[in-house]
Amino acid sequence: MAKLTADALRDMYLKFFESKGHTIISGASVIPENDPTVLFTTAGMHPLVPYLLGEKHPAGTRLTDVQKCVRTGDIDAVGDSAHLTFFEMLGNWSLGDYFKREAIAWSFEFLTQKLGFRPEQISVTVFAGEEGIPRDDEAIAYWKAQGIPEDHIYPKGREDNWWGPAGVTGPCGPDTEMFVDTGKEPCGPDCSPGCGCGKYIEIWNDVFMQYNKTAEGTYEPLAQHNVDTGMGVERTICMINGYKTVYESELFLPLLEKIRELTTHELSEEKRIKAERIIADHMRTATIILGDPKGGVKPGNVGANYVLRRLIRRAVRYAMDLGLPSGFTATMADIVIGTYENFYPELREKRELIVSELTAEESRFAKTLTQGRHEFEKVAEVMAQHGQTQISGKTAFKLYDTYGFPLELTQELAAERGMTVDTEGFAKAEAKHKEASKQGEGVFKGGLADHSEQTTRLHTATHLLHKALKIVLGDHVNQKGSNITAERLRFDFSHPEKMTKEQLEQVEDLVNEQIARALPIVCETMPIEAAKAAGATALFTAKYGEQVKVYTMGDFSKEVCGGPHAQNTSELVAFKILKEESSSAGVRRIKAIIGEPALEKRKAIGK
Ligand code: ALA
Repeated sequence: MAKLTADALRDMYLKFFESKGHTIISGASVIPENDPTVLFTTAGMHPLVPYLLGEKHPAGTRLTDVQKCVRTGDIDAVGDSAHLTFFEMLGNWSLGDYFKREAIAWSFEFLTQKLGFRPEQISVTVFAGEEGIPRDDEAIAYWKAQGIPEDHIYPKGREDNWWGPAGVTGPCGPDTEMFVDTGKEPCGPDCSPGCGCGKYIEIWNDVFMQYNKTAEGTYEPLAQHNVDTGMGVERTICMINGYKTVYESELFLPLLEKIRELTTHELSEEKRIKAERIIADHMRTATIILGDPKGGVKPGNVGANYVLRRLIRRAVRYAMDLGLPSGFTATMADIVIGTYENFYPELREKRELIVSELTAEESRFAKTLTQGRHEFEKVAEVMAQHGQTQISGKTAFKLYDTYGFPLELTQELAAERGMTVDTEGFAKAEAKHKEASKQGEGVFKGGLADHSEQTTRLHTATHLLHKALKIVLGDHVNQKGSNITAERLRFDFSHPEKMTKEQLEQVEDLVNEQIARALPIVCETMPIEAAKAAGATALFTAKYGEQVKVYTMGDFSKEVCGGPHAQNTSELVAFKILKEESSSAGVRRIKAIIGEPALEKRKAIGK
């Protein structure tokens, strides 16, 4: 039988849900927009949080897409048969539209009619209930109605079958996960879906958001019932085609074959396979991050930049073990681009940037690695002489700071010698260093976008700022990035030189004028072409023909944007720029605040 490719699976999934009344939307950037709480997009629902919270989506109430996701929490597990740092999630959503009955019926139909799984291969888990929240008997009944027998329906607790809320409070609910039985013998009497032995592989998750978690920690029934689902592309093609691991699929095989062709060092089979997989996985993820339409992430020392650096450097380190030639990162990137360009044409467009960033980081790292290894050997030898087995945090930090050794690399090298690293000490040394150089940007892991009123207003302020910059500096100004916390906004834009004091003042005054004018903010939905024709500034990912939301602020600003926004510019009270600095070549960065603190600061300078 012909193999099911990722290209065919994506197509089949989107068309199937289109036939069920869903609008196909573009997946979002893998680098979150306006969300400082996560470094990368980790699930299909992530860019849709505002709509799950009740914001109106321009494409309607039934959506389907493919979302690029990066999860690096398990990076150390990459190399086994299952863990990946990048994956694609197929999803379908109901925003206050259909609920459990349809979601379960369509999941079952897609699994059996389209993917061809036999009903008896499928097992599901459902929420078992707990104090105050009943067992999900509806889901059980709908699965039974599809012909799933009772002994293939497993009620499980909160750890397995509950999703959300996105933040501390908000929409959440039980989910039902679908597993395919590989036919392996159960590992014991308690083996059931969710067991890690490899008998059951989870391929899909339907989340039913029907509760609102309150600040008091209670669960209230939610007005808008949503469905959020996620199916992993890599796992699904692996199961369908009977591959033992995802590395046998067309998404990885060309990378592995090339690595084998370039390998010059002999390693034990176990070590060789692990190194090959790590290189393939990490180079795939690094290429996707660098080729993202939003862009802006480059190898560096903070936040997402550091994750990218770590991926590249870890790949380079294993490439050295295999004896791959220098420049191999470019070879890998070209293969990844070839594999994905049908669905992600931006990768081809960004090829030059991808290759130059990878190659530059590869050679930077190769240089420091040689010096760093020398330093590490010296330390390890002295320690061995003294019978010590724990490398101090200070030493690990020096290796990081001076030689570019990620902490994990030091840990791996240490482990090879039966040593450990004082990670707490490392964290302390790092914190001290950050404070000293005032570089700490405070990036928080986990959690999801904060959609409080304050961040919503700051978001509105970025639109006013964007337009004001265009007026004062010229039309070459374009948004390059935005990051909002509860306290401030940060806005990156293209401009070749430092702004003068006068320019900053003009921009600030212009924004404050719009706030004083109390402009109404109106949101309209239209096709992207109409938005562009109406003169709206458009960014990033929308494709031809797609419906978008356009936010108009009086006669001042018009931008394509997902929202949410304030209803009137007067809600911002006042706007004050705190800082203007360089972000990278040709890109400037402004940090600004709004509200009472901004008003106070402006008063203090006599405004
Ligand atoms: N948001 C759900 C998940 O990530 C679908 O599994």
